[in-house]
Amino acid sequence: MNASYPPHEIRVVLFESIHARATQLLGKEGYTLTTHAGMPSGKELIELAQGAHIVGIRSKTQLDAEFFAAAPDLGTVGCFCIGTNQVDLKAASDRGVVVFNAPFANTRSVAELTMAEIIALHRGLVQRSMALHQGRWTKSAKGCHEVRGRTLGIVGYGRIGSQASVLAEALGMRVVFHDIVDCLAHGNAARLPSLDEVLSASDVVTLHVPATPETKNLIGRRELGLMKPGSFLINNARGDVVDLVALREALDSQHLAGAAIDVFPSEPASNDTSFEVPLAGCANVILTPHVGGSTAEAQENIAVEVCTKLAKFMNNGSTTTSVNFPEVELPQLHPKHHRILHYHHNVPGVLSRMHRIISDLGVNISAEFLQSNPRHSYVIMDVEATHGGTFLEQLREIPETIRARMLWCP
Ligand SMILES: NC(=O)c1ccc[n+]([C@@H]2O[C@H](COP(=O)([O-])OP(=O)(O)OC[C@H]3O[C@@H](n4cnc5c(N)ncnc54)[C@H](O)[C@@H]3O)[C@@H](O)[C@H]2O)c1
Repeated sequence: MNASYPPHEIRVVLFESIHARATQLLGKEGYTLTTHAGMPSGKELIELAQGAHIVGIRSKTQLDAEFFAAAPDLGTVGCFCIGTNQVDLKAASDRGVVVFNAPFANTRSVAELTMAEIIALHRGLVQRSMALHQGRWTKSAKGCHEVRGRTLGIVGYGRIGSQASVLAEALGMRVVFHDIVDCLAHGNAARLPSLDEVLSASDVVTLHVPATPETKNLIGRRELGLMKPGSFLINNARGDVVDLVALREALDSQHLAGAAIDVFPSEPASNDTSFEVPLAGCANVILTPHVGGSTAEAQENIAVEVCTKLAKFMNNGSTTTSVNFPEVELPQLHPKHHRILHYHHNVPGVLSRMHRIISDLGVNISAEFLQSNPRHSYVIMDVEATHGGTFLEQLREIPETIRARMLWCP
């Protein structure tokens, strides 16, 4: 992708049956779209994506270094999902391809599932429902509680944790939380100085931390031992965060009164694979197949979030929230201006060479933006359109250039 295109010349190829809202939104931009239901690989993938300026995938299509090497026109990839492990991000960066995902789109869905589980655990809903399905009437108030006035402990107060905090307070719960970074407490939520204090203060603990070396088995035998007798544990974060053997012991000994687990250390690749559930048969344990973020609303939000970022990059050059590129949020281009988007290896002297080329042509620079990471720099110059844009070829001749393109506002 080397120049500014009229919208219909921007070719988009979407794989993996991406939500219809995506085709609607990208179509509205005037781009030319091709969609594929499947998740091709190897040569087939390369052929289907040939000539595409934008490629959209979900979590299954693997984009490796070979793919990027064979896609010289590709400018940006949209991962219509949360994770980006399926993309070789280094290869994408080395080729100047900007990768976006949708980290916020299913936040609310996970927070809502967490609320459902908090109430369901406090009322033994799942086991009562299962009993009745089997023809057993188990009417009793024993062990059942309102959640109003109970204490929710949130571990990881990021996007999902803080949404859960707001919803839980609306249900009348007290909220305490622990996070390793300083974050603003919502409503009356109280930050406690340590994980241990959250564990011992809470009637129900919900985990919303990322998978990192520090969070592997964050909740093990010692931590479960610190939880109140009769309390509940919810893990809708990542499977490795809880030691399931220790959790089973805590449930079998009735130290914990129940748990809800949506994520597992290893999960089946598809719905057709059978799965030996680690906590199968435990009383008052809700097991769900990693569906925390799986709602129609989240799928649509993903389409909106990713399409907005793709179109903004194509039409204005902004890379905000990209997972592999220096992030720049750009203003609208002024009329009668060119915008030069230059991505290059981060070595000294490139910027001054760019300035020399522009100034030798007597072109006035109206605005300049620069963002770098240790390996690459993204420089954007808005210049008055007095020279017909002939400088682009000269800028491309700078040896450190990886990509250069130009936008034009008449
Ligand atoms: N079940 C699902 O379907 C589903 C869907 C979406 C996200 N998730 C998972 O939910 C988790 C949270 O997602 P998010 O979008 O809120 O992430 P986020 O990055 O917004 O928030 C995570 C928070 O955890 C904190 N944290 C990191 N390490 C910590 C530690 N050791 N102790 C305490 N706090 C720590 C961070 O500082 C951050 O505030 C992630 O693991 C994500 O993968 C699951």
